[in-house]
Amino acid sequence: MTSPSEPPFEGVRVRANARSGLVRYVPGESPADVAREAGLTPADVAKLSSNENPYGPSPRVLAALREAVGDPEVLLRYPDGASRSLRAALARRHGVAPSWIFVGAGLEDVLQAIAARFLEPGAAAVMSRPSFAMYPILTRLFGATAVEVPVQEGRHDLAALAEGVLRNEDVRLVWLDVPDNPLGTTVDPAALEAFVAELPDRVLLVYDEAYAEYVAPGAAPSGVELARRRPNVLALRTFSKAYGLAGLRVGYAVGHPELVELLEEARRPFNLSALAQRAAEAALEDEAHVLEVVRRTRAARKRLARELRELGYPVLPSETNFVFVPWATEEARRLLASSECPAGSLPGKAREIAIGEAHVRLKRAGVVVRPFPPLGLRISVGTEADVDRVLSAFRALRDGEGTPQGGAPTN
Ligand SMILES: Cc1ncc(COP(=O)(O)O)c(C=O)c1O
Repeated sequence: MTSPSEPPFEGVRVRANARSGLVRYVPGESPADVAREAGLTPADVAKLSSNENPYGPSPRVLAALREAVGDPEVLLRYPDGASRSLRAALARRHGVAPSWIFVGAGLEDVLQAIAARFLEPGAAAVMSRPSFAMYPILTRLFGATAVEVPVQEGRHDLAALAEGVLRNEDVRLVWLDVPDNPLGTTVDPAALEAFVAELPDRVLLVYDEAYAEYVAPGAAPSGVELARRRPNVLALRTFSKAYGLAGLRVGYAVGHPELVELLEEARRPFNLSALAQRAAEAALEDEAHVLEVVRRTRAARKRLARELRELGYPVLPSETNFVFVPWATEEARRLLASSECPAGSLPGKAREIAIGEAHVRLKRAGVVVRPFPPLGLRISVGTEADVDRVLSAFRALRDGEGTPQGGAPTN
């Protein structure tokens, strides 16, 4: 809404690549907005659109935060701009020196620093389609070309990604999320090793393992381990998922000190608040809490995937805190179908509705998932109660309930 006193905008000059309008990141909808739209109370809405951890952080984090906010000195002083104590704790965790650790206000901040330091007009970055939505956005924001390589059988096509790198002298980096967001799938460790061996030394591999804690042992290569061996690999981790701290914004990269030093030049001076630094450090001290979160999430994920399949929905294999349901589209069939997942088919009445319509109907039932047209829907796992709600909403979609034709009430 424009206020009456607003002067007309004449158009200040912006970067050449921004003139045509850049695509923005669209965050998951809030339960309050969905509740209002659907005529429900926020407590009746399961927000399963941002892959958050419904169990929250360790009680130790809450105690550390309570102590910190009780101390005005913590609040009135600037925080340690270098996040020394947190970086030392992370370095101990990963068996490296603190000079190997770069911290950011969430991985978004780390990704931004990487893009700022390595990308520019004339440069290119290679990534899978689909993978994390910020990769093409940041690549274009910094004026570089986004080379998007379609996934194959629901997984990163490492051979095609390597080809994309080797054919193009302008490529500076590869954005690779393992597991992939939104698909939840991983890559074969031997195939990744071959991919990395083929990567020219001048090309940086940004190995984003935001969901690393959820991955079963051996199901995906360890980025941190790779970064320790290869000077052109950065491994990315976050406190937003298994550590339950998405609201405080803490993420980090592990990599060769020279890479970290380059990123330091692009870092905002006080990028992590004092509270975020203390919370993350306290979270690291309670590994048992993270293990319990992961155990519960994996159990709920297993049931969600099994029962969705029993309802007749295809579900991609997942090593994360979400699952992906491919829709009955030509693209889903072409990119996602494999012996593990018969993408392209849907049960009953679900076959008759588009992804956008499914998203809207699920919302009316109080289940907020993330649509990825034309491929399908991504559903965060949530709690066992959330899983119950998802299953009943997907059963209703299959049976055509809650539709104008079906005649059942929509809320
Ligand atoms: C693959 C991937 N990378 C990075 C991020 C950003 O995480 P953060 O909350 O640390 O900014 C996400 C968040 O969903 C993600 O899925």
